[in-house]
Amino acid sequence: MTDQTARPRRFSASAPLKGRIAIPGDKSISHRSLMLSALAVGTSRVTGLLEGHDVLATAAAMRAMGAGIERWGDGEWVIDGVGVGALLQPREALDMGNSGTSTRLLMGLVASHPITATFVGDASLSGRPMGRVIDPLSQMGADISASPGGRLPLMVRGLAPAIPLAYRLPMASAQVKSAVLLAGLNTPGITEVIEPVPTRDHSERMLRGFGADLSVETEPDGTRHIRIRGEAELKPQTIVVPGDPSSAAFFIVAALLVPGSDVTIANVGLNPTRAGLVEVLQAMGGDIALLDAREVGGEPVADLRVRHSALKGIEIDPAVVPSMVDEFPILFIAAALAEGRTVTTGLDELRVKESDRLAVMAAGLQAIGARVEESEDGLIIDGTGGDPVPGGATIAGHLDHRICMSFAVAGLVSKAPVEIDDMAPVATSFPNFEALLEGLQA
Ligand code: S3P
Repeated sequence: MTDQTARPRRFSASAPLKGRIAIPGDKSISHRSLMLSALAVGTSRVTGLLEGHDVLATAAAMRAMGAGIERWGDGEWVIDGVGVGALLQPREALDMGNSGTSTRLLMGLVASHPITATFVGDASLSGRPMGRVIDPLSQMGADISASPGGRLPLMVRGLAPAIPLAYRLPMASAQVKSAVLLAGLNTPGITEVIEPVPTRDHSERMLRGFGADLSVETEPDGTRHIRIRGEAELKPQTIVVPGDPSSAAFFIVAALLVPGSDVTIANVGLNPTRAGLVEVLQAMGGDIALLDAREVGGEPVADLRVRHSALKGIEIDPAVVPSMVDEFPILFIAAALAEGRTVTTGLDELRVKESDRLAVMAAGLQAIGARVEESEDGLIIDGTGGDPVPGGATIAGHLDHRICMSFAVAGLVSKAPVEIDDMAPVATSFPNFEALLEGLQA
């Protein structure tokens, strides 16, 4: 999972994108469905599971800790859970590949089980900070030895019974929230996470769906208190994973930018804690219609019809950042072709994603001839007003799937082709990205 051969590819000015596509399952929900199914007592079934490398890393890890996990068909998986408290000690290091979500959430699970696990990952993941989960999990009693700077490789020695904790999140992070809640699953009493800024709530929804005793209380200022009663018994479920809005994002922006496009993207998850990009693009003038709004697997879903639009620059309210935290790279590409200035702030978390997404996007945008300025916590972009950008550059993807896909979309609206040095990382979250793009161009 960690070693891949580089796969460079060029993207050039595109004919109109036309047609209907279905995007793969949501990455966040896929990870959680495997983890909770593996902790339930009995057999769960998941359909629509994202079969990207990140989720496969979670599947392999849960298998190594005792769960029976089998693939029955395309996106269809059957999981035999071991029960909360009964995870087995893995015999080898858990290879997390590129996946921060697998690492942080699984560290939470191991922390309150009487087992020891070593976590390793690729160069990108090994540069990312784990101190944010090491702190609360250590307070719950786990003994964690990490590489310098709180990084991978690291070893978690769990404590059972662990010590319940009330933890106020120091940064808006669903991964940290989820790590503490998952540790709380096998901890006696009540574990509480205090969340001043709401982040994606898939863990809360799914824990409840599996029968955990979880409550959410919201203060008048919006601060959320999420409490879980530990030593839970989870009941097996049938889960339908909706399409990933963070994957849909690339085709939404591509359809808005490529003249003459008209694309329908089926089954897109629109949980309000994830739907920021659609709202921002609509406010920029994007023609995005929500069709057949419905519920799938306890999550709001709709089909999106997206037509080419003239976009206007916008000042983005930092309050919406958590609801589109993974969508800024592709939003920056949209801004590069909008009319006028787009200003973003409050994006410091982007510096600790699969790459430093502010620095890498600023460098790439400059390389393709867009007008961009980097500040400490955001980018300021002056768009072309709809004209193609010059392009004609090679972009270093830095093992970051979303950087690769963002500049692939930029290539579709560039005068000279844009080359991505390595498209292999795209398989972490969106294995059929290029195939779907080619289908819409045909
Ligand atoms: C995720 C949370 C986000 C996001 C990541 C997936 C999750 O990270 O960037 O791609 O599944 O919980 P943070 O919670 O660290 O912001």
